[in-house]
Amino acid sequence: MVASIISGKEFASRLRKKVTTQVSKLKSSLGSVPGLDVILVGNNPASEIYVKNKAKQTIEVGMQSTKHMLSKNVSEDELLKQINTVNIDDSVHGILVQLPLPDHINTQKIINSIEPTKDVDGFHISNVGLLATGQKAMIPCTPLGCLFMLKDYHQDLSGLNAVVVGRSNIVGKPMAQLLLNENCTVTVAHSKTQDLPKVCRQADIIVAAVGIPEFIRGDWIKPGATVIDVGINRISYQDSGTTKPKLVGDVNYDEAIAVAGAITPVPGGVGPMTIACLLANTTTAFCRINNVEEPSWN
Ligand code: GUN
Repeated sequence: MVASIISGKEFASRLRKKVTTQVSKLKSSLGSVPGLDVILVGNNPASEIYVKNKAKQTIEVGMQSTKHMLSKNVSEDELLKQINTVNIDDSVHGILVQLPLPDHINTQKIINSIEPTKDVDGFHISNVGLLATGQKAMIPCTPLGCLFMLKDYHQDLSGLNAVVVGRSNIVGKPMAQLLLNENCTVTVAHSKTQDLPKVCRQADIIVAAVGIPEFIRGDWIKPGATVIDVGINRISYQDSGTTKPKLVGDVNYDEAIAVAGAITPVPGGVGPMTIACLLANTTTAFCRINNVEEPSWN
């Protein structure tokens, strides 16, 4: 068996088109567009690239984009003041504080200072609770993108065995909640899980979010299973005597593709979906704030 490739790149492109259409309709009917403000503290090169890409795509779909670049030495109080300014600004509908933050700043305190209706990352404790209780929440972008692709491929996820490998607040935990809300039987596996290969072999769906390059091997996968690879790991490999860089996921792709029924590639899988979902979330936040019907995105 050779797995079907689930192209996040193509899916994200279609989602951005839907967002563009919605933004244009909202502009016509309400005379305003969603605004996304991104706050970056310091100059972590990876974060700078993410923030630049987010701003570029925000503008491309017709939204308002504002970047707030703060020094790595900014105090927690100054950062809280900046967040309060955007919290009360009616032209701002989505707020994202790029993580990680410097060590002297309490990340959870910062996240919980964001107005929950504008928390397009879905990291605020209110949104975590709303998702956990199956209520209307802002949903973290990466797991939301994974869910969109899974629902598009399977239509109905009800009754399927899903194994989420990784238990982070950003991906693993919200992914498990989303799959549970879709009536999957969910196992959250992690570094202390006993006999992880055996646990994975039970899965109709594997979501790999451990951050270890090519960790999940082909013989851990049940034939025909769907594999969603959230990992983005930069490794180097030898090619005719020279060292070259390469991007790989948390799944050994060459092994998995021979066993799985469907798989997301790296790059071109989950990665592009994250920013597309951020744009969708910002549009959803705009609709909720303005009390107009929100798009379904399906
Ligand atoms: N850093 C890495 N991923 C993310 C994300 O999804 N949101 C934020 N705010 N920071 C990140």
